[in-house]
This record gives sequence, C-alpha cells and structure tokens, in this order.
Amino acid sequence: MTTVVKTDPAKPSDASIEAAAEVIRNGGLVVFPTETVYGLGANAYSSEACLKIFSAKERPPDNPLIVHISDIGMLKEVAGNVSREMLCKLEEVWPGPVTILLPKSKEIPDTVTGGSTLVAVRMPDNILSLELIRKAGVPIAAPSANISTRPSITDSKHAIEELDGRVDFIFDCGPTVQGIESTIIDVSGGECTLLRAGAKPVEELENIFGPIRLTDFSRGLLESTVPLAPGMKYRHYSPRKKLYLASSEPFIREVSGRNEFLGKILIIGSEETCSKSRLQCISLGNENNLDEVARNLFSALREFDKTQCDIGIIQPFGEKGKGLAVMNRIRKASSGYVGSLDSLLTFLA
Ligand code: TXA
Ligand code: MG
Repeated sequence: MTTVVKTDPAKPSDASIEAAAEVIRNGGLVVFPTETVYGLGANAYSSEACLKIFSAKERPPDNPLIVHISDIGMLKEVAGNVSREMLCKLEEVWPGPVTILLPKSKEIPDTVTGGSTLVAVRMPDNILSLELIRKAGVPIAAPSANISTRPSITDSKHAIEELDGRVDFIFDCGPTVQGIESTIIDVSGGECTLLRAGAKPVEELENIFGPIRLTDFSRGLLESTVPLAPGMKYRHYSPRKKLYLASSEPFIREVSGRNEFLGKILIIGSEETCSKSRLQCISLGNENNLDEVARNLFSALREFDKTQCDIGIIQPFGEKGKGLAVMNRIRKASSGYVGSLDSLLTFLA
C-alpha cells in the first residue's frame, strides 16, 4: 500500500513530514521532491532499506546512490577527510543541485556506493527534502525516482503512475523547479572532473572549484565508450517509443512542415519550432530560455509515449550553461541522429 500525500514543497505540513520521516526511520521507501527531480529515498545507513530502492527501481546493484544531507554538520557522518578548503567550497554551492564524490565514512554501507570507497553527496535546495532528512534524523540515499532506464520523474503525477504499489509513501507536490538532475563532480583525483552535467552550469562551478575536465561522457555523446561513473554504462532517460535527435534546427523545421508525416511523427522542440509546425508537437518552451527547456524535458518525453505517433524527433539546443545538461539528456534519450528525409523514411518503415 502506498500513501500519497499532497503538500506544498516550500511549506510542507508537519503531519506529512512526520509521517514520511517515520517511514524512513522504519526502513521504508519515500518518493519526495527535490529542486531537481523526484528522489526515491531510504535511510542511507541501512543496507537493508537501500536494497529495497534497487528492487523498487529495478536498478542494477552496481549503480550507486546519492546520499542527501540537510546540513553541513551531517557531512562528517557520511564522508571522511574533507578539508577546510573543500568545506568552504561546498558551503558556496549547497543547498543546491551539485553532487560531489568524497571518501565514504564507515557508516555508509557498500550497498549505497556499489562497493566504491567514494560516496556521492548533496544537500538539496528544497525545504521539504531538508525537513524530511532533519526529521528522519538520518541522511537519505536517493536515486531519481523513475524505474531504471526511464526518463527521470519531474512531476508527482508521473511518480504516482509509475511507483504506486512499489513504495510506501509518495509526496504529491506537482512539478519540480529545475527539472533536470544535479551536476556531479569528482575532485578525488587532484583534478576536478565532470561526471554528469546537470542543473548547475559547469561555468559557475569553475568559479568555485577551478578548471573542470569535461569528457565525451559528460556531454553524453552517443559514440563514447568508457564510463567514468557506474551509472554511465546503462541506458538512460528512454521513452518507450523511438526518439531521434535532429541534426539541425533547419532539418526539424523542414520535417515539421510536411503534411505526409501527420500522425506518424511527433515533434519535440522549442515554442518557435512548434508554432510553425503542421505536425503534432510538444513544446519545451522558449529556445533562448534553457531553464524552461530543462524544466519541461523529462515530462515531455513521458507525454510523447502517450501519443499515437510512431516516432519522435527532438530539436538540438546550444550547449552553453544548462544546455550542456539538456543536450546530454537528449542524446541519451535518443536512439540516434537523423539528418535526411531518406534516413527518416527508413526509421518510419
Ligand atoms: O538531482 C539528482 O542528482 C537526483 C536527486 C534525487 O537528488 N538524483 C539522481 O540520482 O539523479 P541517480 O541515482 O539517478 O543518478 C546518480 C548518478 C548515477 O549515475 C550514479 O552512477 C552516480 O550518480 N553515482 C552515485 N554514487 C556514485 C559513486 N559513489 N561513485 C560514482 N558515481 C556515483
Ligand atoms: Mg537517474
């Protein structure tokens, strides 16, 4: 039985926090909003509770979980050897959509880190999550709340559709603010490496952490092969229907002007692209407002699956700022690129 409770994530009711905190303390699973996406949380100190996350999500056991903390004091309990200098940097980015890899403390079970000696930690910028962690009295291990390989969940209506019956408690708080997951960096090797582009732009993090090394994986390039983080080797963010990334904006506009694709191809693109289209569209928002595009992306992928169209084509966006994360998710959600009408016809055949 899943308890679903509606509350305001910025001003959650005491009763809802108390009920969910009790679930966490008793080793159960709670789906809760963060500023990025919904998380599927359990007591990070309990191996048994965390194992339930993997089965509810159908997640491979070697793909580790992010540990969420509510204040900097809690960091000492989950990670060891954090220098003063690093603490100051973390205080600049937290609470916020930044996850950092640090040496794990012995209190964090191997189940959480997939056997690694490093633990991924973040302090979410969301009042409900912070109060939940505080009230539970333990850090909360939580991956994104989607079933493995599916798009992350950014609206509680999708959490209820996908997880009712699989978890103990779901917070029904509507859409999240950022809509895209946290940025993950690894500072353990002396240099700072981007493991996953996310809601916090790399350019802003470089002002705090110094130069950050980007890899093909950080950009989500389809042809890259060597995973840096365990989760990188798995399929991600995939709608059930085939989605193709248009090789250019003019190409997606050309396709969207052709009546013969009506009912067959769905266009996912900017407001500008959608307003000129003759085909069914899902708008991601203004193409110059990447915050809006990021916020709408995962919900759009889920809504695409509910349409009658055979395949989808999604528009590429610029890769500056949040665009790096947006394009990373789009590339991973896509089955490939499409840049000519001939290849499009073979995908439709
Ligand atoms: O915004 C977010 O980060 C959301 C919210 C709920 O906080 N969480 C999230 O978790 O996106 P998840 O599990 O879907 O993605 C976390 C990624 C995975 O690819 C995982 O492999 C990597 O972080 N990761 C977690 N712990 C790690 C570790 N100890 N070492 C290397 N990679 C790690
Ligand atoms: Mg995920």
